[in-house]
Amino acid sequence: MRKLYIAGNWKMNLVPSEAAEYAASLAKAAKDADVKVMIAPTFVCLPAVVEAVKGSSVIVAAQNVNDHESGAYTGEVSCKMLKDIGVNTVILGHSERRQYYGETDEFINKKVLFALENGMDIDLCVGETLEEREGGKLEEVLTRQIEVGLCGVSEDQMSKITIAYEPVWAIGTGKTATPEDANNAHAFIRSLIERKFGSTVAENTIIQYGGSVKPSNVKDLMSREHIDGALVGGASLTLEQFLPIINCNK
Ligand code: 13P
Repeated sequence: MRKLYIAGNWKMNLVPSEAAEYAASLAKAAKDADVKVMIAPTFVCLPAVVEAVKGSSVIVAAQNVNDHESGAYTGEVSCKMLKDIGVNTVILGHSERRQYYGETDEFINKKVLFALENGMDIDLCVGETLEEREGGKLEEVLTRQIEVGLCGVSEDQMSKITIAYEPVWAIGTGKTATPEDANNAHAFIRSLIERKFGSTVAENTIIQYGGSVKPSNVKDLMSREHIDGALVGGASLTLEQFLPIINCNK
């Protein structure tokens, strides 16, 4: 039985003082939630947010990490730095990183392997653009992103990996994939994981949906067989919207 995993990707929003205040309220409010909860603030907010949620079950994640131990990589943040402040989870391969910062599947794979070597948990994002979907390339794109993104990952290491299916055309647009479409894409991703890692790993892998998730559509999405959680952007920025999402199974 897969436990629902609801994550908030704050992207480049909230300054540290706002982030800490919100995180503290969220930690209190999420106390009775029956789901795994994660929030991913910007790097600069991480120390304050880690402090604010201390003692709660809320997981704090980074939105990116470098694929080297340390050294001359201006502007970058290492796994060791994150772990030193108590951050053990990272989102990798987000479509905004792919789209605006040129991250390729091969590059994302290097980060996945390095983060795993450093004992981190990973939320790996995959998903097609509208052009790819309309061009009938959904399965081809997902196959490449999963095959290359998880190349070299062992069956055991898969317990550290969550997949987030985020159709690019549904991110921040107000357009949500229908629960059927999302579920079909999730089922396909699970079949790819089964082919690569076997049925036990496939059964246990959490696959989140992301793309305009909000209080009004979350229940329907989460009720589908292969949808095991959500990676929420805009609606994760206020308690008013994020709390009902976290409580979607109540
Ligand atoms: P929105 O929920 O704002 O569409 O963003 C989804 C997302 O990209 C989460 O990583």
